[in-house]
Amino acid sequence: MNNFIFQNPTKLVFGKGQIAKLTELLPDNINLMLTFGGGSVTKNGVYDQVKEALKGRNFIEFWGIEPNPRVETLRKAVKMGKENNINYLLAVGGGSVLDGTKLIAAGIATDTEPWEIVKGGVAKEQIPFASVMTVPATGSEMNGAAVISREETQEKYGFFGTYPQFSILDPEVTYSLSPYQIACGLADAFTHVLEQYMTTPGQSRLMDRWAEGVLLSVKEIAPGIKHNPHDYDLMSDYMLSATLALNDFIRMGITQDWATHQIGHELTALHGITHGHSLAIAMPGTLRILKEQKKGKLLQYGERIFNITEGTEDERVEKAIEMTEQFYRSLGLTTRLSEEGIGMDTIETIASRFNDRGDAFGENSNVTGDVTREILISCL
Ligand code: NZQ
Ligand code: ZN
Repeated sequence: MNNFIFQNPTKLVFGKGQIAKLTELLPDNINLMLTFGGGSVTKNGVYDQVKEALKGRNFIEFWGIEPNPRVETLRKAVKMGKENNINYLLAVGGGSVLDGTKLIAAGIATDTEPWEIVKGGVAKEQIPFASVMTVPATGSEMNGAAVISREETQEKYGFFGTYPQFSILDPEVTYSLSPYQIACGLADAFTHVLEQYMTTPGQSRLMDRWAEGVLLSVKEIAPGIKHNPHDYDLMSDYMLSATLALNDFIRMGITQDWATHQIGHELTALHGITHGHSLAIAMPGTLRILKEQKKGKLLQYGERIFNITEGTEDERVEKAIEMTEQFYRSLGLTTRLSEEGIGMDTIETIASRFNDRGDAFGENSNVTGDVTREILISCL
């Protein structure tokens, strides 16, 4: 196990009716701005619950943070926040609203141009913020990451160092999600674990078992959720799995991959494919092309997650990759670029972007533009 420092400062407030706790969770005497997406919270009762909990407090509202939040929109929120001396933000929405709010928090705290903050990779200062999370998927509610898009240049990058003070997770708010949103959320959570797990075996038994626990839970609940998306216990496990999949806990002292996410972000930036869906396409490709490098872990994963115990090592590795693709398909997602009308043009664009920037992703820093081309060709 490698040396590491672990610190996750976010308080998690989980369960039915917990949005009502907002007023006691927020400090007194703050200048508060609420941030929202396009209006889903007004249809499912979340906005009313928030308003009720904040009765007697003053606050302003910023609406219109879109899925795959754009810096062009967030600049307006930073301006509004600065003009109103805002010193605390509350994000009410999915990962996009919260990620956008993380950039707004950093933008208000400094004079640095928001896109420069993103490109800098780490936000050094920010005003405090919290969330009412309405989509189980990104883990943004309990991690320090935010992923921001720039419309002008069709780019999408993450930056780090921004944890919410607290996040409220009420599984009942997920009842209004569409089957496609749920499929993408489950795919995102599953892939987050794979990004931290699917490297080399033998680094930490504890991290392996913990990651496998989340993978098995997601695999176990997915069919039930498809048939009964209003089952409180299933949705609770889904929501908490998404948080635990990316809140730093399963990656202590181990190497990580994340090449699939880099590739997925490009597919989203260029074609608008929903984040979790982009991963369902890219992850099986990453495994196909890097199967030798990841062989030991693929064998362990195949046995422990999909009960693959028969055949030669090569056959078991192939089977594990096939079962992974099948799992994404079982959620209701396509897993091939051709099914989304994406072809060689896009593959070449992504490969040249990575090559031009000198990118080399993955646990061995060997997923260059050329390797990405191979990965994406295997996804056609
Ligand atoms: O905008 P509104 O009207 O609120 O509608 C949203 C949006 O259209 C709707 N929605 C949200 N909660 C709902 C709901 N609809 C019905 N019922 C509810 N309870 O869902 C749509 C999508 O929401 P979005 O926030 O985009 O989804 P998600 O939470 O999956 O976030 C995706 C974004 O997070 C980034 C992705 O790249 C993408 O930009 N990620 C962030 C990460 C992080 N911060 O650590 C890691 C991830 O890997 C990911 O990259
Ligand atoms: Zn993700």
